[in-house]
Amino acid sequence: MENKNRKTNVVSDKDIKEQSEFCKKVKSVISSKYSEKPLACVVTYGCQQNVADSERIKGMLQKMGYGFTDERKNAQLIIFNTCAVREHAEDRVFGNVGMLKSYKHENPGVLIACCGCMMQQKHIADKIKKSFPFVDLVFGTHVVYKLPELIFTALTRKKRVFELPDMDGAIAEGVPVLRDNDKKAWLPIMYGCNNFCSYCIVPYVRGRERSREDDMIVKEAAELVESGYKEITLLGQNVNSYGKDLLPRVTFAQLLRRISEINGDFRIRFMTSHPKDCTKELLDTMADCDKVAKHLHLPFQSGNNRVLKAMNRGYTREKYSELIDYAKSVMGDELSITSDTIVGFPGETYEEFKDTLSLVEYVKFTSLFTFIYSPRKGTPAAEMKDPVTSAEKGKWFKELTDLQEKISADNMKKYEGKIFKSFVYGKGKLGDNYVAARTDGNLIIEFEGTEELIGSFRNIRVTQPLTYVLKGELLN
Ligand code: SAH
Ligand code: SF4
Ligand code: F3S
Repeated sequence: MENKNRKTNVVSDKDIKEQSEFCKKVKSVISSKYSEKPLACVVTYGCQQNVADSERIKGMLQKMGYGFTDERKNAQLIIFNTCAVREHAEDRVFGNVGMLKSYKHENPGVLIACCGCMMQQKHIADKIKKSFPFVDLVFGTHVVYKLPELIFTALTRKKRVFELPDMDGAIAEGVPVLRDNDKKAWLPIMYGCNNFCSYCIVPYVRGRERSREDDMIVKEAAELVESGYKEITLLGQNVNSYGKDLLPRVTFAQLLRRISEINGDFRIRFMTSHPKDCTKELLDTMADCDKVAKHLHLPFQSGNNRVLKAMNRGYTREKYSELIDYAKSVMGDELSITSDTIVGFPGETYEEFKDTLSLVEYVKFTSLFTFIYSPRKGTPAAEMKDPVTSAEKGKWFKELTDLQEKISADNMKKYEGKIFKSFVYGKGKLGDNYVAARTDGNLIIEFEGTEELIGSFRNIRVTQPLTYVLKGELLN
């Protein structure tokens, strides 16, 4: 590790080169081991951060000489990139990994690996060690860049490999990337989280907040635009605190402005924004920069101040509403706001939950991601008293989703006659001659058009709002 005049660690060029050498070594091992090019199946769970990590995993695998398949039964290497955010996510992983037991028994040459956020928790890694002996390789979130070395060891040593350092994390530049899509790119700008919201596992499994250098990000964005990418989504758990560890300090608003100055027809998105660090400077920059999508994903989690405090969110309902009012005032009708919210945080009462309902009513989100609280081992909230039954929480949850459905439907009606500059991304579902486009605010508009339109931005007028999609007509 080396420190380039900044507060966080950066993986040295020497270490990255060493991994490049391991790619060559793996290549020669697999060319003698398999008669045909071996295939890898990478299964990704969780958020876009994990999707972006998987694109790096695939980039390295490609360099090692692997091809790819979505079919587990055709693969010589299966990697599960896991998510720990809720119990349900973990159960799915255990179910799917468990299903490979007999497959591995019949095909002992197949390599099975697990990585990602779940593995970074000791009790999970211990469970894999003990109860899933057919998993050959387990590695954590901080050593993804070492995959070539880990695969080499797993292929050449007849022993299971566990590489799970518990550390703050570092920045690894220069890792090859194989992107899933050729028009839409994920671009991580920072890693980790320092917020320790009392319910959340992410800071424990992803380490401390660390930002990539702005020059590196701008360079990567320019290369993406140059090679035809039309939509770039900047990723971080809390992009609003980007750059706090850079010397000199760079703000997220400044970074956004630099990226939007890159020549070309493309759109910039970002996620996730945290209300605690969201500034008027950022909202003004969004309003000001044409290339920045007028879409704000600003999770509020709860509309009640006591619950927000117990969640350690660092803002109040009033501060949140003020940000929303300001964002609407500078971006007007064009702005689409989405959010995340948790139902049934330990100790939440129905009266307190009603404050979430009233905030949802007030903001009128385009869409809302709603979650029932899931206790995460090792977090402060998991130790709090949680007297409300899951049946009761289920009722509250339904009340919230019903309300949001009504709001979404009302919102849709308002779009009739409106014109949206939208990115045509693929074939439509309304009929054979339809194509589908996405607005700035993540709404889907389908319209009659030829496939040649796919991959371009077009102006489309909404002719008929349906329940989940808008029907429209092409203007130009
Ligand atoms: N960094 C983002 C959120 C990442 S996790 C932010 O702070 O906004 C995505 C969402 O999962 C969170 O916004 C939250 O709504 C939900 N979530 C996280 N931990 C959870 C838990 N223990 N139970 C239920 N939902 C949770
Ligand atoms: Fe979790 Fe909070 Fe960090 Fe988001 S900001 S990842 S909810 S700790
Ligand atoms: Fe899940 Fe890890 Fe993302 S816990 S939500 S994959 S950062």
